[in-house]
Amino acid sequence: MKESKEKKYFELVNNIKILTEGEDDVISVMSTISCEVFQTFDHFNWVGFYRAVGNDKLKVGPYQGGHGCLVIDYGRGVCGRCARERAVQIENDVTKLPYHIACSSDTRSEIVLPVIKNGELLAVFDIDSTEPGVFDEVDVRWLAEIAGLI
Ligand code: SME
Repeated sequence: MKESKEKKYFELVNNIKILTEGEDDVISVMSTISCEVFQTFDHFNWVGFYRAVGNDKLKVGPYQGGHGCLVIDYGRGVCGRCARERAVQIENDVTKLPYHIACSSDTRSEIVLPVIKNGELLAVFDIDSTEPGVFDEVDVRWLAEIAGLI
């Protein structure tokens, strides 16, 4: 299971590098990343970015999956906590989280990573899964590498 996850991420990162080579438009790269990551794991039901837009607010950016709320204040939900703390958040069962912003009742677990460029928070990278407890240090390592391509 772990090995195949590593293999999938290895191929995914290579594909994203090839597709985005030489592209410096942040939205284009975020769009490509959302698409590629979403299609790699069957149990991902939302993959995308919330952009830091000032006044401690996140606004939805490129994503794949069901609808997402448009604005999230820092500190609110899992994404808002990630933005405030600038730290990776892993939630194994979001149904047990009173502060989770539930955009889909199918979502069970979630990982959110900060996307930091030149010391500034650019966005948070949010991935939701229909399976509980699927995210671990393997996902953190690969998804951080992917976010670093922005
Ligand atoms: N899961 C997020 C909200 C955004 S959606 O799931 C797309 C949160 O609680 O931060």
